[in-house]
Amino acid sequence: MARGELVKKLLASYGRDEEFRAVVEQIIADEEKKNNNVLARSLRKMLENIGTASPSTKTGLSRLLPFPDKAKDLIQRIEPQHNAQDIVLSHENLEQFVSLIQEFRQADRLKRHGLPVRSKLLFCGPPGTGKTLCAEIFAAELGLPFFHVRLDSLISSYLGETASNIRKTFEFARRQPCVLFFDEFDALARSRDESGEHNELRRVVNSLLIFIEQIAPSGFLIAATNLDRDLDPAIWRRFDEVIWFELPDTGMIKK
Ligand SMILES: Nc1ncnc2c1ncn2[C@@H]1O[C@H](COP(=O)(O)OP(=O)(O)OP(=O)(O)O)[C@@H](O)[C@H]1O
Ligand SMILES: [Mg+2]
Repeated sequence: MARGELVKKLLASYGRDEEFRAVVEQIIADEEKKNNNVLARSLRKMLENIGTASPSTKTGLSRLLPFPDKAKDLIQRIEPQHNAQDIVLSHENLEQFVSLIQEFRQADRLKRHGLPVRSKLLFCGPPGTGKTLCAEIFAAELGLPFFHVRLDSLISSYLGETASNIRKTFEFARRQPCVLFFDEFDALARSRDESGEHNELRRVVNSLLIFIEQIAPSGFLIAATNLDRDLDPAIWRRFDEVIWFELPDTGMIKK
């Protein structure tokens, strides 16, 4: 197979250990065929060592570990299909995203100086204003994998299980540098005061509040909603930044 195709397959296998190993095996076989035996041997050695390296190893490869079993039904990796040219943002939002990207790229430096780095974002605004699209493009611009939280599997009818699923999801985002995206966030973070709601909802919102407060994601945590009035009031201050997506003005529509 052509080198370019293999590289594409390698990138597409990010986060899926077995697939990743299979592609690397293909690359090794390819190199052996071309008599590049030294390279083939060294690749094989690296492949054998992946996964045995200590978790603190700072090589990119140690990050390519599989989903933990606990989170794999709750999170779905989405391959970004769009780029920055595909979205029209207001000036204000554009400035915000540019500064968030700069901040992320300088994160180590900022932290060394004791400065905070924003990593928890809440996207609010009417339906169809580009919240989901923007989260996807933001991840692509940062070069981070984009993981969508699957609310259908996260929200369980069993008592206590939703909170436990939230814990597994956050645990994943703490270790894996990524953009973890909670779409339709209101389904989880609905106000605890709403009449007719039972104790399970309170428990879910309470644990969500604690997890968001405690997590320092190694990438970004982004939640999106078009029902901001339904959110529990205590949710807001847990986010480092709330970004409002307004309906486009005529200039934006023309663009
Ligand atoms: N700002 C924008 N720039 C370019 N295209 C946009 C923009 N907003 C929306 N669109 C188009 O509309 C589609 C729907 O947008 P998207 O799903 O991101 O909206 P949303 O804000 O997440 O809506 P909802 O609140 O219903 O989830 C996009 O896939 C894109 O084609
Ligand atoms: Mg959306």
